[in-house]
Amino acid sequence: MNLKRLLLSFFIVFSIFVSAQNKIVINTDLGKETISKHIYGHFSEHLGTCIYGGYWVGENSDIPNTAGIRNDVVDALKEIGIPNLRWPGGCFADEYHWMDGIGPRSERPTMINTHWGGVTEDNSFGTHEFLELCQQLETEPVICGNLGSGSVQEMSQWVEYLNSNNVSPMTDLRKANGKEEPWGVKYWGVGNENWGCGGSMTAEYYTNEMRRYSTFTKNYGDKRLYEVAGGPNGADYHWMETLMKSGNPGRSFQGVSLHYYTVCHSWNQKGSATVFDESEYFTTMKKTLFMDELLEKHIRIMDKYDPRNRVGLIVDEWGNWHDVEPGTNPGFLYQQNTLRDALVASVNLDLFNKYARRVKMANIAQTVNVLQAMILTKDDEIVRTPSYYVFKMYQVHHDATLLPSAVVSENYTFEDENIPAISVTSSKAANGKIHLTISNLNPNKDLQITCELRGMEKVEFEEGSIITGDKINSYNDFGKDEQVKLSSFNDVKVKGNVVTVNLPSKSVAMLKLK
Ligand code: AHR
Repeated sequence: MNLKRLLLSFFIVFSIFVSAQNKIVINTDLGKETISKHIYGHFSEHLGTCIYGGYWVGENSDIPNTAGIRNDVVDALKEIGIPNLRWPGGCFADEYHWMDGIGPRSERPTMINTHWGGVTEDNSFGTHEFLELCQQLETEPVICGNLGSGSVQEMSQWVEYLNSNNVSPMTDLRKANGKEEPWGVKYWGVGNENWGCGGSMTAEYYTNEMRRYSTFTKNYGDKRLYEVAGGPNGADYHWMETLMKSGNPGRSFQGVSLHYYTVCHSWNQKGSATVFDESEYFTTMKKTLFMDELLEKHIRIMDKYDPRNRVGLIVDEWGNWHDVEPGTNPGFLYQQNTLRDALVASVNLDLFNKYARRVKMANIAQTVNVLQAMILTKDDEIVRTPSYYVFKMYQVHHDATLLPSAVVSENYTFEDENIPAISVTSSKAANGKIHLTISNLNPNKDLQITCELRGMEKVEFEEGSIITGDKINSYNDFGKDEQVKLSSFNDVKVKGNVVTVNLPSKSVAMLKLK
């Protein structure tokens, strides 16, 4: 064998080896589950500068606004197509009394926001302002009622105020406050974290209370409530078991919530949002991948008690929780957002998509200026975070059909631990286009990945986009050029029904195929 032929055979064997390492097989004709667009939902609480300063500046502000709500924030969020917005908390929900937030603003009583910095809440942003915000965002409201410190009557009247068009005291009050037609709110949370800040209840006690409250939150007109029971804290499987066994699933509630935050070190010392090394990056990825096990185990319990799949799993709080930025109020949970956060977002969204049969909604915490935010504001400036761009990229999966896929991924190894280097979602849109989003979690190695689209003979690559940066802790800051953004991507080769992608280290890419 001459040298040329020897090199050629070496090259062929080498390419087979490389492509066999990272392979995605997509069954383009076997999709049956819809990826609910509500998986791409958001959460905004009366916490720090999320509502006040983040959205709400008031009609007299110099910051351009419509009815008191900042135009720049609304415009930016509309670009990522927010399908729903959860409000007013969080822990705040179970100490919020909605009647304090209606009527003339100058007459609204104040309260102390005991959970978040002990600041005075003047209630200038209440029910009408929130629903105005939803209208501007063209998004569906998700309201969490107060079960922890409220009353059945108070919750029942809030629903009546929002949704009734009868002749009734709450309908009259709403009309007197300037809103003739009901809003028709569908998504309703029956308390929040009632195992903790929402009342320190046991699973058994909460389950009884939830049944009682949901009995009195009525349907008005043809708008049926979709009630979300307060679910477990992470891996509390007993809570899920109790709720599903005794909570009257499908009748008292249509969805059950799950909260899981990714915390790099510990709750006492979480770790910096921007100053971290590869060991902390790896730990964050490993901990965020725990969402897979959580979803799998909770869904197994739900399947036991609800084999007809009537109740949705609603991951209404998730995301990275880092230490606050130095010098900021510890109660305000203001953190920067890096390429690491973008990859945490893509991995979690891939997992929600994977379990789309059961996961019907998710809400990243929290949209503006709090935790893993989409947008940061400083006076009249705004920054789009790396996480924002993931939500922008993943719009292609909204209400698309999940395509079942099998992934063979090499490991990303750090010291003596491994995680899969690749995370994927494949879906088919109503117009027949196929979208793949692929993340390479390895910060040190570009990956060659072959994707076989079974059920198709020929594939065409239409366009691609990518989110990456120079470093795992690259981030976007006020007054500086963006370090992490959405760019076009075309390092893709197609042969028949096989697409080969060269995916740079620490990146997430989207391919549009037909
Ligand atoms: O998102 C911040 C807080 O985290 C929420 O208020 C609470 O529900 C959770 O513990």
